[in-house]
Amino acid sequence: MTIDLGHHGDTEVGAGLIDLAVNVRHEPMPGWLADPIRDSLTQLRAYPNDLEAKTAVAGRHHRDPGEVLLTAGAAQAFVLVAQTLKTAKHPVVVHPQFTEPEAALRSAGHLVDRVILRPENGFVLDPSAVPADADLVIIGNPTNPTSVLHRADELRELARPDRILVVDEAFMDAVPGEPESLVGASIPGLVVVRSLTKTWGLAGLRVGYVVAGAGLVEQLAAVQPHWPVSTPALAAAIACSNERAVAEAAQAALDIERQRVHLVDSLRTVNGLSTFGVARAPFVLVHLPGAAGVRESLRGQGFAVRRGDTFPGLGPDWLRIAVRPEDVTDRLVKVLIELAL
Ligand SMILES: Cc1ncc(COP(=O)(O)O)c(C=O)c1O
Repeated sequence: MTIDLGHHGDTEVGAGLIDLAVNVRHEPMPGWLADPIRDSLTQLRAYPNDLEAKTAVAGRHHRDPGEVLLTAGAAQAFVLVAQTLKTAKHPVVVHPQFTEPEAALRSAGHLVDRVILRPENGFVLDPSAVPADADLVIIGNPTNPTSVLHRADELRELARPDRILVVDEAFMDAVPGEPESLVGASIPGLVVVRSLTKTWGLAGLRVGYVVAGAGLVEQLAAVQPHWPVSTPALAAAIACSNERAVAEAAQAALDIERQRVHLVDSLRTVNGLSTFGVARAPFVLVHLPGAAGVRESLRGQGFAVRRGDTFPGLGPDWLRIAVRPEDVTDRLVKVLIELAL
């Protein structure tokens, strides 16, 4: 079966359904974020200038502004990588993971190799499984959809002088303390991708960024269209980089952690359902025989969850469920228990 790499949770959400398919936080936008976005609308006549946003993001991660590239969402970063590294001979994507990196590589003409992490190993990375001659490696941390957080020292093992290693940290700010992040690490060939979409509920604004060595940033910028990130998106990047925002994200990460423990514990009471690996992200991957049918029945009961069969390495018996407040989880699990009887 050909996997539809272009399928994403947003197409599973419909009117009236409780959204457990898209892993974007639903909390109302704080005033300190809404105000600068709104104020920026008065400046739309001018082309965007990203200098202040670059400096703010660089400051947040203790990097040099020349090591930051603002992008139209993390998704654009994968396209830039695919376009820049046209001469890569052996690109490898570590799956199961978000499918846009592989889709971007394929549409740029790359022949993509896959390393598939297995449920029986808790979807944990084995650096030795990545072919030694891979000159471009892409991995998510924490990984969508497995929710597994790979260890920074294992990721470092993947870095080589003759290899570009892309670590997608779109969900890293949802992990308390960001213990395994490489965003502050100066490793030759390392490209870290981050997103403002998830924690700040900004999917529609399209804002993310790359942190990498200055030379690599220059190469990626060279294939980016001019003015890629809008003025409101740049205003959001500035606002989300200050100490207050970082502290709020840290608190949100703790809330998510508590809600996820509740979700995992509750899911374990569902007949036939299993989880593999340790969940650390704002979503949980579950194995449930007949999951494809259960997903349809859940829709009938008002809940949208993400199908698992469009992720390489999974299949129709997998579902991804977003972490939400405890009362939402309780309603979902009550229905799941009835369906799984
Ligand atoms: C792991 C991962 N990386 C990146 C993205 C894309 O994020 P953005 O909205 O910043 O393009 C997503 C979106 O679903 C994702 O799940």
